[in-house]
Amino acid sequence: MNAPRFVTPRFVTFEGVDGAGKSTHLEWFAQTLGTRSGHEVVVTREPGGTPLGEALRALVLHRPMDLETEALLMFAARRQHLVDVIGPALARGAWVVCDRFTDATVAYQGAGRGMPIARIEALRAWVHPALEPRLTLLFDLAPEIARQRLDATRDKDRFEREAQDFFVRVRTAYLRLADEEPARFVVLDGSGSIDHIREILEKTITSICL
Ligand code: ADP
Ligand code: TYD
Repeated sequence: MNAPRFVTPRFVTFEGVDGAGKSTHLEWFAQTLGTRSGHEVVVTREPGGTPLGEALRALVLHRPMDLETEALLMFAARRQHLVDVIGPALARGAWVVCDRFTDATVAYQGAGRGMPIARIEALRAWVHPALEPRLTLLFDLAPEIARQRLDATRDKDRFEREAQDFFVRVRTAYLRLADEEPARFVVLDGSGSIDHIREILEKTITSICL
């Protein structure tokens, strides 16, 4: 069922449980990558990244729905994103820095909600058979700390309101993915200071710009 994958040189994704720190570092990472590499950097997100994708995002984050519908909408938004934004950017030689991608579907719809992984793999093989990130930065944080951060800062969407055991499953799934693909993942301790995480990101940028 799994189509062969190739690793695209300039595709970077950010992943982690909600509240782990992705948004805190995304813009800085993209700017630094642009300066160091001398290439255009496109910053985008999933679900979203296109007008249609953002409309689908508003639905999946706020409307109650069946699990299969949820997964299909994630992939529908992804397909449009690949056609309109990610594909053209990679084709012109830009870096793409994307806040979440298919690993999030494996972690949230798969491990979090219990969707069989074979179904997600089938959708992956259909929607992007030949595209995987070159680098995935996994912000790892204990769900109880992530929850405290979210409680302090924002109104929660349908995912962020999930119980702690949901996020324990999501976190475990992410760590398993990182274990399975150590060459693609860099796992960052999200409980470290913002400065410390930035230092590691800086070294990572240096290594991918070589
Ligand atoms: P995400 O994008 O992963 O959901 P955010 O970057 O929005 O997470 O961070 C969630 C909250 O935690 C924000 O209020 C942010 O300022 C805070 N935060 C992020 N990183 C750290 C950190 N390393 N230490 C303490 N607080 C942090
Ligand atoms: P995100 O943009 O990280 O939200 P925020 O910036 O508010 O933290 O992600 C939105 C939510 O969508 C997040 O809870 C994870 C979820 N999600 C999935 O469940 N499956 C997916 O395939 C993707 C891309 C996101």
